[in-house]
Amino acid sequence: MDTESTFFENPPQTVAVGQPLSRVDGRAKVTGAAKYSAEYNHLPGMVHAVIKTSDVAKGRVTGFDLSAAQREPGVLAILTHQNLPKPALTAETKEGKEAIGYSVQMTFMPLQSDQIFYAGQPVAIVVADTLEHAQQAAAKLRVSIAAEAPIASYQDTKAPRYNPGGKPDADAEGTKRRGKAAEAFAAAPAQVTATYSHATNHHSPMEPSATIAHWEAADRLTVYDATQGVSWQQRALSAILGLPQDQVRVITKYLGGGFGCKGPIWPHSVLTALTAKAVGRPVKLVLTRPQMFTSVGHREDQEQTLRLGATKQGKLLALLHEKTSTTSPWDDYAETNSKFMGMLYQCPNFEATTKLVKGNVMTPTWMRAPGEAPGSFALESSMDDLAYQLGLDPVQIRLVNHADKDPATGQPWSSKSLKQCYQRGAELFGWSKRNPKNGLTRDGKYLVGWGMATATYPVNDSQGNARVRLFADGHAVVQVAATDLGTGTYTVITQVAADCLGIAPDKVRFELGDSALPTTNISGGSMGAGTFASSVYTAAQDLWQKLTKMAVTDAKSPLFRAKPAEVEVVKGRLQLKANPAKGEDFAALMKRGSLTDLEGFGQGKYGAGYEAAQSGAPAPAKPDDAGKESGHAMYSFGAHFCEVRVDPELGTVRITKWVSVVAGGRILNPKTARSQVLGGATMGIGAALMEQTVRDPNLARYTNASLADYHVPVNADIPDMTVEFIDEHDPYINALGVKGIGEIAIVGTAAAVGNAIFHATGRRLRSLPMTPDKVL
Ligand code: MOS
Repeated sequence: MDTESTFFENPPQTVAVGQPLSRVDGRAKVTGAAKYSAEYNHLPGMVHAVIKTSDVAKGRVTGFDLSAAQREPGVLAILTHQNLPKPALTAETKEGKEAIGYSVQMTFMPLQSDQIFYAGQPVAIVVADTLEHAQQAAAKLRVSIAAEAPIASYQDTKAPRYNPGGKPDADAEGTKRRGKAAEAFAAAPAQVTATYSHATNHHSPMEPSATIAHWEAADRLTVYDATQGVSWQQRALSAILGLPQDQVRVITKYLGGGFGCKGPIWPHSVLTALTAKAVGRPVKLVLTRPQMFTSVGHREDQEQTLRLGATKQGKLLALLHEKTSTTSPWDDYAETNSKFMGMLYQCPNFEATTKLVKGNVMTPTWMRAPGEAPGSFALESSMDDLAYQLGLDPVQIRLVNHADKDPATGQPWSSKSLKQCYQRGAELFGWSKRNPKNGLTRDGKYLVGWGMATATYPVNDSQGNARVRLFADGHAVVQVAATDLGTGTYTVITQVAADCLGIAPDKVRFELGDSALPTTNISGGSMGAGTFASSVYTAAQDLWQKLTKMAVTDAKSPLFRAKPAEVEVVKGRLQLKANPAKGEDFAALMKRGSLTDLEGFGQGKYGAGYEAAQSGAPAPAKPDDAGKESGHAMYSFGAHFCEVRVDPELGTVRITKWVSVVAGGRILNPKTARSQVLGGATMGIGAALMEQTVRDPNLARYTNASLADYHVPVNADIPDMTVEFIDEHDPYINALGVKGIGEIAIVGTAAAVGNAIFHATGRRLRSLPMTPDKVL
């Protein structure tokens, strides 16, 4: 293969990319033709499973009374730890953890013993011919449990606090200290010390998690599963069930949101596969809404103490961060807030420590901007405090501390348009009209406040495969085992493929959501668009290389005997770089060669991996090691501006104006991108004002595991938001310069709201959510 050739421009000419194309899957969704994971009802003999869970958070199962349940009509099986088939491997062993890979979040597998570790833990699975029969039998099933006193959270003073990884004072991910933070803080002329708390949050996607497991043969399994990553799920299930990877197929054509909770593999998917094996029929399991609060992880409840030391001019001298959070009995997972703390502002002295408490809860997990979202509440609230203390404008203090290179690594940024985000956001919002004093602006009885905050999210490092199949009749099928959370993956990758192949978007069919397609990364970590776009780009290059080879060796081609390096491809036409008139269309070339179609296959890299590949340096081994082994620090940046109206009698807070400006590299589709930012900011407003799952301190059981009691914002809570993007070109991330915008909009959001409340009322709220009782 002639790798000297540049077959088309880097980045490719954009025709479809950058256009506000409406969702290609829109019609299928609004007409109900889009099949979600629980909707594969055609499987012959499919039966229904219901999970019976433990109300007790700690203890031991002492017995079952199955008799009443077994008498219920339609019951096929009742599976408990005594009779459920065992998995071949679990993540509880080191071997299992390695084999199952990144998709392991919770290493514990329920229904393997009589032990109960958390409320909501599965203790039995009832299988029946209909869902109603299974539910009825599950209700009649009696499980006796000897209960013990659980640990509900880090707030329980009986529970020991420990440093993850056994390293005293080290952050979980080893975020590097720099300088002498404690000394620098003590000597700083301006100081802010504050403690923040963040409630447990649940992702609460509209579509509950669901699995249909269908053993098509004794050693071949197809799973319809609501997962953000079919390739990860395939790998995990094959390892756990002891099958070769290609004998497990995972299908996820549509998702109704996920926000991280559908990223890793969770027990219910494995249990459904084991249940289907036990009963010899396809089995469908849909988690109930309450079960969604105890089956797929959560954002951990946490407390952060932050100390900022600064000069009188507001320049940071020291930043000390301490975090304590609740984790599960088996895993040391904690959101890494410190990565964000260490990179956002120029600050010579930095130190972060993480402490964990093992509570009787399942393992928490990534929830939209894990680390950055709660971390930004603490840092961006404290920066606001510092601004007031020193009489500086909140935007000004952030400009004073702008990091011109990554303070954590010393590397230059691959691109950073944060100053433009502040400037454009302030302009759109009318920030210059802000009264610098708080508690002075009124609108009738309402107190009006303005606040702002910085947002950032890393470009994680990722790679994956893609296949493009271009037909001589001018259409193409493009395949990646990607998933579309509802965010627009179908649409934006269709646009990318159209440009890479030089055809119109309506001539492209982009297939995703099937592990039989070329494997790739999950839609998570804001990596989806960048990874899949890079892979499709690389696959298209492979195709053009093949076609060029055909042309230069085809005596009937105008390009016969040209050197491949002299050929370029422009909008599907192969031509001489020096003489573009000399060339031909791909269709003519294919037809002459009796080919109806031709395939290209490629492995695309994104983030530091792409840069490393371009420079010849080795790619990082871990997908989230962005920037570590290449020359640049890679992040998206943004700024939020918020206006609130606070009712001083009721303590209610309404968001009345919102501006988000994001610099996220190339925006593939401004319409779907805007929706991403609207959704992210709305979720951040939820965390700011409403969202909290309350774990009873004595029982360690959630008291509000429903969407009636776990409040998320609805349309009526959200004003008409203004969203803009900065036009940004980043040559280091991938050929298309896509940074990813899935998570950045939730970062800084709660702080922008809290800062606006402070401006309105003079009350600084440091505990999320900022409910009316705290506002008053
Ligand atoms: Mo996202 S929390 O990486 O799905």
